[in-house]
Amino acid sequence: MQEQNAISMSIVKVNNLKKTFQETRAVDNVSFSVKKEEIFGFLGPNGAGKTTTLRMLTGLLKPDRGTVHINGWNIDKDPLKVKMKLGVIPEVSNIYKDLTPLQNILLAGRFYGIKRSTITGKAEQLLQRLGIYEQKDQPVSEFSKGMRQKVSIACALINNAEVLFLDEPTAGLDVHSRKLIREVILEMKKTGVTIFLTTHDIEEANQLCEQIAIINRGRIAAIDTPENLKRIFKESCAVEVSFDRMPPPDSLSQIEETKHVEKRGDKFRITTASPDRLIKHLASFAEKENIAFTHLAVLGTSLEEVFLTLTEEGK
Ligand SMILES: Nc1ncnc2c1ncn2[C@@H]1O[C@H](COP(=O)(O)OP(=O)(O)O)[C@@H](O)[C@H]1O
Ligand SMILES: [Mg+2]
Repeated sequence: MQEQNAISMSIVKVNNLKKTFQETRAVDNVSFSVKKEEIFGFLGPNGAGKTTTLRMLTGLLKPDRGTVHINGWNIDKDPLKVKMKLGVIPEVSNIYKDLTPLQNILLAGRFYGIKRSTITGKAEQLLQRLGIYEQKDQPVSEFSKGMRQKVSIACALINNAEVLFLDEPTAGLDVHSRKLIREVILEMKKTGVTIFLTTHDIEEANQLCEQIAIINRGRIAAIDTPENLKRIFKESCAVEVSFDRMPPPDSLSQIEETKHVEKRGDKFRITTASPDRLIKHLASFAEKENIAFTHLAVLGTSLEEVFLTLTEEGK
């Protein structure tokens, strides 16, 4: 009963998903759930397992183990029911460049078996919503990458998809197109579509997502809101310091409040739970050793720090 409730509250529910290619554990015991109408980010470096996961979520690839439920339906048992509810924008565009946006959308609509009488009106509505109505009769080959990506999104939405899966939708786009696509994603969310997107762009995840799962080497390293992810790591702030001459070897790691010392170029990066107290101890240390600070900075936690810490730990 409890499991039923959990499934109905979350529109996407993934349990213990696994996929191995020969020797590579591409996806290793991944579980998470996506709430209705949220933007869920799957953030990870290249080769982390993002595309493999997305392909299993959308029924394009069969997992070795684990289950995927979308809207309460098991994708393995009811693939058609599930696929009718979702739209997919793959990593490599699947639209036809020789066709126009309108022709592409009509084709996608026919694929879903949408009635001819309703399809043109719906296609035109989508073109308008995405701001490509004026170009509806030009071949896609004449478009920028950002515009093509909009056509892909329109094709994925023709079916009134409730969940939209986007695989690195802004990768390789210029700044302007990236902004356009992000606006489209936010716009879709407003109309009640749930969004699952993969990205290796931390700032994109930070800007768009309500929840972020950080994936590294096939495993989930953390799942939380961007703000909570930052907060969790507040405890591991760092102080960056350099002196006018080298302090005695290992002397820094002896200082109170020091968790870990790392030498980076001419600077030392000291992680600590209390930057304030550490700086006071550092000051007495410098006084005693008769050395002077040439640089001193407290490094706050950015999502980038969280990401690097989590993905470096896995190595
Ligand atoms: N069809 C495949 N055959 C063999 N290895 C694969 C295949 N697809 C993905 N992989 C491997 O699985 C790992 C995860 O890949 P992928 O899911 O594409 O990562 P991401 O999308 O995060 O960059 C990588 O090591 C990749 O080389
Ligand atoms: Mg990928």
